[in-house]
Amino acid sequence: MNTPKLVSGKLPLVGHLFDFIRKQDELMQRGKKEEGDIFALNLMGQNIAVLTGADAKKVFFQETDKSLNMEEAYAFLAAIFGKVAFLADHETYMNHRPILHTLFSRNRMTTYLDIMVEVVSAWLENLGDEGEMEISSEIITLVKDVAGRSFLGNEINQKLGEEFWQAYDDLSKALDPVLPPNLPLPKFIRRDKAKKYLANVLHLIVRERRANPKDDSFQMLVEAKMKDGQLPSEEIIVQLLMALLFAGHETTAGQAAWTIIQLAQHPDYLNLVREEVDVLLGDGQIFDHTTLRNLKHVSMAVDETSRMRPSAETIMRTADEDLKIGEVTIPKGWMVQTATAVDHFEDEIFENPANYDPMRFSPKRAEERKERHAIIAFGGGLHKCAGINFANTEMAVIAALLFKEYDLTLITTDTKVERGLGSSRPSETWVHYKKRKA
Ligand code: HEM
Repeated sequence: MNTPKLVSGKLPLVGHLFDFIRKQDELMQRGKKEEGDIFALNLMGQNIAVLTGADAKKVFFQETDKSLNMEEAYAFLAAIFGKVAFLADHETYMNHRPILHTLFSRNRMTTYLDIMVEVVSAWLENLGDEGEMEISSEIITLVKDVAGRSFLGNEINQKLGEEFWQAYDDLSKALDPVLPPNLPLPKFIRRDKAKKYLANVLHLIVRERRANPKDDSFQMLVEAKMKDGQLPSEEIIVQLLMALLFAGHETTAGQAAWTIIQLAQHPDYLNLVREEVDVLLGDGQIFDHTTLRNLKHVSMAVDETSRMRPSAETIMRTADEDLKIGEVTIPKGWMVQTATAVDHFEDEIFENPANYDPMRFSPKRAEERKERHAIIAFGGGLHKCAGINFANTEMAVIAALLFKEYDLTLITTDTKVERGLGSSRPSETWVHYKKRKA
């Protein structure tokens, strides 16, 4: 069997683990250079096929839920949230899918946009005329607030307070696709405690709401029906909610922070953003969907950050059977993953891919249209991110309103990608901010 060839640099026992965490982009680019579109890694004894390039990626997305399953690959997430939605088998996923998608209808998105504008405006009002802040920690607080208010409603979100969201931090710190999720390690023990606490709180909230309906976004979730026409059990609602609140803040926070940092690093492009926000968000103007559509430079900045600094650098599957792609066969039992470090920097698709150049997404250049899955920051195919519009809107609102009001100077000038085993984010980045003159 012609299996994918291992990239160089494998160490005894740990395999490529250290490079995977510390220098993932170099590791992936080395794999592509040495072996072409399909190559292999080894993490602590587990073989992983990395699929890059148009043809292999197409197979990756088409074969998901067929010969490639998500359930096993994301067992570390199911250890937190339970076997719901894409963490469950295909049939269960399809049954739960309408609930996820009810939450992102056009009507709902209008409400979410209003919430985002309100939360971000209140944050800016509190910043004062001038000061210093660490971008990631400011943004994470903001996006937690947006997620809580969007999916639970203002009243419940206010009651939950700090402790609730701190428990989510313990979940994030325990994300680990490599180690078995039930090892008695301190981080897994903290994860289980946090999970229990969150589930208890959410059970109470869901039960109370089912008994006393109200007219808000949370009610929609509590009342949403599954594909089979049944109402989900309280347990399923709690698990879905827990997963949504997690997905709703963790990944968005990293990319939103990078969007700000990259704009601050590129003053020429920032000037184009400024011209746009000054016209579209002047005094008394409403920030609605039309405004959002017209914030073209902001939107291209958000897209360029998704290309260069995606929070989800890889997405994972497990091969349920031998899978032949061209000359190569991926054996049953291997893990299979994508790699933005290769695909988002493909010079046949992106001009000078290492350069920050949001105009590559302009209608005239539209580089991302050269290939169906050129950008995979939000996945692709059936399981493409349900929250993509939510996340893109939130990142655009934060960037537009912040740069409309403030000038930012980077105090930290060498921000790096910080990778754990979960999503990646910028390292600590301090900025000096000063209110712009009218
Ligand atoms: C910048 C922010 C975000 C990034 C980078 C991101 C990334 C992704 C990726 C890569 C996937 C596909 C996973 C796979 O195929 O293995 C995904 C799926 C998903 N995301 Fe996001 N996401 C973001 C924000 C959000 C938000 C804000 C929500 C909800 C509030 C959300 C909810 C979901 C859900 C429910 C799925 C599963 C979809 C399905 O299986 O049908 N995401 N996300």
